Amino acid sequence: MSASTLTVTDNRTGSTYEMPIEDGTVRAMDFRKIKTGADDFGLMLYDPAFMNTASCRSSITYIDGDRGILEYRGYPIEQLAESCSFLEVAYLILFGELPTADQLDRWVYEITHHTMLHETTKKFMEGFRHDAHPMTMLISSVTALSTVYPEATEVHDPTSRFLQIKRLIAKMPSIAAMSYRHSLGFPYVYPDNDLSYTENFMNMLWKMVEPKYAANPVLARALEVLFILHADHEQNCSTSTMRAVGSALANPYLCISSAASALSGPLHGGANEEVIKMLDEIDTAANIPAYIASVKGGKRKLMGFGHRVYKNFDPRATLIKKIAEQVFEVTGRNPKLDIALELERIALQDEYFISRKLYPNVDFYSGLIYQAIGFKPEMFTVLFAIPRTVGWLSQWQEMIVDPAQKIARPRQVYTGARNRRFIPMAERKPVEVKA
Ligand code: SDX
Repeated sequence: MSASTLTVTDNRTGSTYEMPIEDGTVRAMDFRKIKTGADDFGLMLYDPAFMNTASCRSSITYIDGDRGILEYRGYPIEQLAESCSFLEVAYLILFGELPTADQLDRWVYEITHHTMLHETTKKFMEGFRHDAHPMTMLISSVTALSTVYPEATEVHDPTSRFLQIKRLIAKMPSIAAMSYRHSLGFPYVYPDNDLSYTENFMNMLWKMVEPKYAANPVLARALEVLFILHADHEQNCSTSTMRAVGSALANPYLCISSAASALSGPLHGGANEEVIKMLDEIDTAANIPAYIASVKGGKRKLMGFGHRVYKNFDPRATLIKKIAEQVFEVTGRNPKLDIALELERIALQDEYFISRKLYPNVDFYSGLIYQAIGFKPEMFTVLFAIPRTVGWLSQWQEMIVDPAQKIARPRQVYTGARNRRFIPMAERKPVEVKA
């Protein structure tokens, strides 16, 4: 086999350049050597939305979009969803290995004993209207929490980093539950250290006057598996945001609120809420053909469909569909499921979707389960942010300790005017401007 290099000929000058190919990539900086003269800046690579740009080297999550493969630290997601607890998977994602029983007990103890929130969080929560979106309350409260832990900015101190990682993983459910209780006008429920991570979250959400909350085991396990499936997904939009903000050495609480802000977008983690709105709008199977027509006419997107990486199927969607059956046995079938299944059936045989490789993604069915368990749609993206906090923090830590990483600062292709003469106010004429 010939040398693992790329030879590039610049036809402007006739010069050729040889670049090493490593891990299926060439270094973008190697293209800067391609110049037409001494004062030429050199070539850049133009890649809006980073469609074909690797921003880092990572050993956390592996995705094969064509084969529908998702592995955390090399373990297939199907095995982890089948056999692990969420905190067990969180340990694997953060530290790279599955914990022993003693290691897991210690880890669970540590997380459990960081679930309490500083009482100042209540004051921030009280500042929100009852109908404030829970994602906004979560993002704002995490940001506010950074004032409680100013030492968190010591991001190069492994002891401080580990303490903040534990605090954030432990406190996200507490903040989420607090925002939910605030929206209902109910008193807040404090953590119960006897309960598992997921059961305690349900306790803080739904405990009323009973002396001790008892979660339905089927629903608790379903939520636990959903948390496992949402824990990390390599360099998605919110994780890239976490890395970018973290590359400036910002406080990790502010990095998490930045990542959660990205996740809240309807094209990303906000899609699960949009799917339910879409199914509500469709309302009956009879309306599906007209809706599909409007999607094919480019008037709207089929929410919960499509993915930048998965071009056959999202393995998480396959597993989530199975969880739906278990949940509906307990809660009763979500009537919207029939519309979702019919929508999927029609889309998967329609050339418009097949040619664009659009298949159900992680968000298509998850909302149906959350709704059946008792969550309102506004909480769905919060349920995405809680487990993804583990992925965000793992990717952040990997970036912080990576010697190749520097502050993220992309370049641009400048298309605006140059060297314009200043116009004094008296000489200015109104010009039509577009925002
Ligand atoms: C998540 O990256 C991750 O890993 C994300 C995530 C994670 O775990 O972090 O997996 C979680 O965000 C899942 C995605 C949730 N979003 C949605 O369900 C929203 C609906 N989906 C789309 O907006 C879209 O599919 C994206 C954003 C998911 C992917 O967009 P891409 O890769 O930029 O693809 P594209 O927009 O360039 O689409 C290619 C073509 C276009 O048609 P043409 O212009 O070629 O005619 O497919 C069309 C798009 O219009 N298309 C859709 C569509 N998604 C893409 N048409 C209708 N419905 C859709 N859902």
